[in-house]
Amino acid sequence: MALKVGIVGMKGIGNNHANCHSADELADLVAVCDTIKGRADDAAERLGVKAYYSLKAMLENEPDLDIVDVTTGGTENGSWHFEPTMQALEAGKNVLVEKPISNDVTEARLMVAKAAEKGLYLGCNLNHYFTPPADRAMQYIEDGEVGELVYCLHKMGFAGGEYTYGQGGGGPVGGDQYFHVKAFLSHPFSVMRYFCGDVMQVQAFFDRPSFRKSAGDLMLSINSIHMRFQNGAMGYLLSQRGDATFGLGGWWSVEVAGTRGTFCIENCIEKMTFFPAPGTEGAANPENMTMGSSPVPTVHESGISDFGETFPLRIHAYLEDVTNGVPVHQLRASGRDALAALEYTWAAMESYEQGGILVRPHPLPTVHGHPTG
Ligand SMILES: NC(=O)c1ccc[n+]([C@@H]2O[C@H](COP(=O)([O-])OP(=O)(O)OC[C@H]3O[C@@H](n4cnc5c(N)ncnc54)[C@H](O)[C@@H]3O)[C@@H](O)[C@H]2O)c1
Repeated sequence: MALKVGIVGMKGIGNNHANCHSADELADLVAVCDTIKGRADDAAERLGVKAYYSLKAMLENEPDLDIVDVTTGGTENGSWHFEPTMQALEAGKNVLVEKPISNDVTEARLMVAKAAEKGLYLGCNLNHYFTPPADRAMQYIEDGEVGELVYCLHKMGFAGGEYTYGQGGGGPVGGDQYFHVKAFLSHPFSVMRYFCGDVMQVQAFFDRPSFRKSAGDLMLSINSIHMRFQNGAMGYLLSQRGDATFGLGGWWSVEVAGTRGTFCIENCIEKMTFFPAPGTEGAANPENMTMGSSPVPTVHESGISDFGETFPLRIHAYLEDVTNGVPVHQLRASGRDALAALEYTWAAMESYEQGGILVRPHPLPTVHGHPTG
């Protein structure tokens, strides 16, 4: 039977999630909610569901809801996530929350602890790795074709430069120095952790270009972050918010290299290329390889260039996990996974504030697992 879903926060992203649930056979969208009446009413009319103007009213009148989908935003795109998430968990509902899980790491820890206490599925919309290229890349890792991980290089941000300053994603955001760091880095950190595991040490340099400085814009829009994974691999993340234009790989690229092969994902959902290391079965003519030559890569084009396609894919995965009753610690892109990305964000801010020192991220809550799997 389809899962009954209610959505809180009916602006752009809430309506996007609503379209995903409506089109997904695992979901039965029954209600939407926004404190701004017109937004709830418009969405309800468009989708043919009930409108509410507070989560409290929605929970009281829709006792059969299985899932509350929290698509509110707020300061640094996350300050309005805590209250409805806690309210829904307290009422015994599973929650899917937008990223960042919160703009406050203390609140995020409480959210993850509440979900664990209640035994509920708290998922986060870390949608960037719910793509055909990421699936294929993970398959290479699981098949042993990447080998022992050596490094992960990730670039993710917004294209731009001095001529486009003030337009779109690159514009000034009211003098909040950590806006980009808190609102955005959850995505690249979660992609790196998805492929390479937990991060043990972080070192960061942040800055902003002169065109921002002269405009009085405090946002630290350039983030250069060096890290070490628990498994010994090295990581480097470069993010920027419309200060320059990324070259190779477009707005989103990740290269993960191992002792047997390397993969690169370009433009998030568009393309994945695998480069077998010389000497492995997959490398053509390894004996002919000299300086200046490279192994013959295998290119996987997804045929999709629209980043928007990540939303239905990620939401379907959450619905699938809840429908299948997976053990809560095996939920994909869980609240704990989102908390990990936030702990790395906080470690990076601390490193920056201390002049680039090495920082160990705050430990994650223990996973106790379950004897049945
Ligand atoms: N995963 C992605 O790729 C991606 C992309 C863009 C945005 N986002 C995230 O989506 C979220 C929402 O973005 P947006 O631009 O639609 O947000 P927004 O802040 O513009 O709108 C949020 C809506 O929620 C309503 N709201 C706030 N608190 C409420 C409450 N307690 N009860 C009921 N309604 C409430 C507001 O009135 C508003 O209509 C943000 O957290 C953002 O980070 C994710």
